[in-house]
Amino acid sequence: MTDRELYELAAAAREHAYAPYSRFFVGAALLTDAGEVFSGCNIENAAFGPSVCAERTAIFKAVSTGQRRFSAIAIAGGPEGAGKLEFCPPCGVCRQVMAEFCSPENFRVILGNSGGETVAYRLKELLPLGFGAGDLGQKSKHADGQAGS
Ligand code: THU
Repeated sequence: MTDRELYELAAAAREHAYAPYSRFFVGAALLTDAGEVFSGCNIENAAFGPSVCAERTAIFKAVSTGQRRFSAIAIAGGPEGAGKLEFCPPCGVCRQVMAEFCSPENFRVILGNSGGETVAYRLKELLPLGFGAGDLGQKSKHADGQAGS
């Protein structure tokens, strides 16, 4: 699975975004270590607070089926009807959720645009000095993690 292929799956998931309030449509595609892909879209709510991002939809779908080992996530986001999509970085809450399950060193966050470009970041680049299980005096919960990471 190339970064571009994963991004295209995120773009396809974006078609299902439910975002009648922001009109900002986002899709995500999460790749497991085993090569399975879980997709997600943002799902908004009239009360705003219960809204959820595409990335967390994908992660929660995967975790709820027993998957906890992930290697990458691709994100495709932009305003409804946008002819061209630009890079769409994940929000801070989603970065924190990634940090619960994904290696800061190895997990890759892939952004893409309609021009055929992708750029990948390591999770630790996007969430430096993140709060984790180690700060609670506990062992990291993700597969290759260490306390504090
Ligand atoms: N959103 C995502 O789904 N993922 C991101 O990475 C950024 C923001 C959603 C949340 C909300 O439904 C809309 O985009 C506007 O913030």
